[in-house]
Amino acid sequence: MKKIVLTGAAGALGNQLRAPLAKLCEELVSTDLVEALDNVAGNESYVKADVGDAEAMMTLIEGADMVVHFGAIADEATFEEIMHSNFMGAYNVWNAAHKHGVRRIIYASSIHAMGMYPKTTHITTDMPHRPDTFYGLSKCFAEDMASMYWDKYGLEAVCLRIYSASGPVQNARALGSWLSYDDLIQMVEKSVTSPVVGFTVIYGVSNNDRSPVDNSKAAFLGYRPKDNAEDYAEEILAKTPVVDPQDKAHMCHGGPFATVPLGVSGVQFIKKMSEGK
Ligand SMILES: NC(=O)c1ccc[n+]([C@@H]2O[C@H](COP(=O)([O-])OP(=O)(O)OC[C@H]3O[C@@H](n4cnc5c(N)ncnc54)[C@H](O)[C@@H]3O)[C@@H](O)[C@H]2O)c1
Repeated sequence: MKKIVLTGAAGALGNQLRAPLAKLCEELVSTDLVEALDNVAGNESYVKADVGDAEAMMTLIEGADMVVHFGAIADEATFEEIMHSNFMGAYNVWNAAHKHGVRRIIYASSIHAMGMYPKTTHITTDMPHRPDTFYGLSKCFAEDMASMYWDKYGLEAVCLRIYSASGPVQNARALGSWLSYDDLIQMVEKSVTSPVVGFTVIYGVSNNDRSPVDNSKAAFLGYRPKDNAEDYAEEILAKTPVVDPQDKAHMCHGGPFATVPLGVSGVQFIKKMSEGK
């Protein structure tokens, strides 16, 4: 593999992926909105660029074999903000990838494309979308675009419906939804190295006993998560209060994003909830 482009390289997840991706290619081009990145690998270069800028994406993606597209607003925001970074950003990446004959895009989708399904529904990778926010809607758009570019032009894509990627498990919801950083890296590596993927959707969760999703149709990718949130269950459940079973923030896959008004930050909502405000 000659060149991989990684968008969102300065973000929480992008930063985890830089070193592993650099090992899979001759040249890794990392991009984000910040001025510079720390610890740039020998075969890595950094370009400051906005994914909402069509020309910048066209230049950046030229000569790439694959694009790992993680650059986006990772929260609910106004439609205009989501439109620029997430809708236009994804379109610019797919359009440039197609024009330059890129083989495959690995896309950071999200559970929020399916967020309004109740937790009691064990969701599969081929059920209809049910977004919970403008943010989730942008992930539905990009997944459908990935499917369309595969059908029309043979541009492959793996859409990773990431649930809750983080360090150690922090709350009861994450007992089902946790994706450890090691498992995230494995999932992206398998998505890059699989000989064929066509158009594939996979949920980004670890090997959690309480996982509420079904990845069986993406088993051919060879993703076999190693971590299990159950290791944290005793400690987490001991400090979890009884919750209202009618509350969508607890009952839906999207968690608190299922209840925030459209356009209002879900991340801030979660922060206020944990501070008891
Ligand atoms: N962290 C999770 O649990 C999680 C869950 C589901 C999906 N995701 C998706 O994974 C990706 C990375 O998430 P993260 O947690 O690292 O979030 P993050 O906010 O830490 O990283 C996102 C990065 O994208 C960059 N970005 C935003 N708008 C941009 C623009 N217009 N042009 C260029 N860069 C832009 C930001 O500067 C940031 O560095 C996002 O697409 C997010 O939607 C993350």
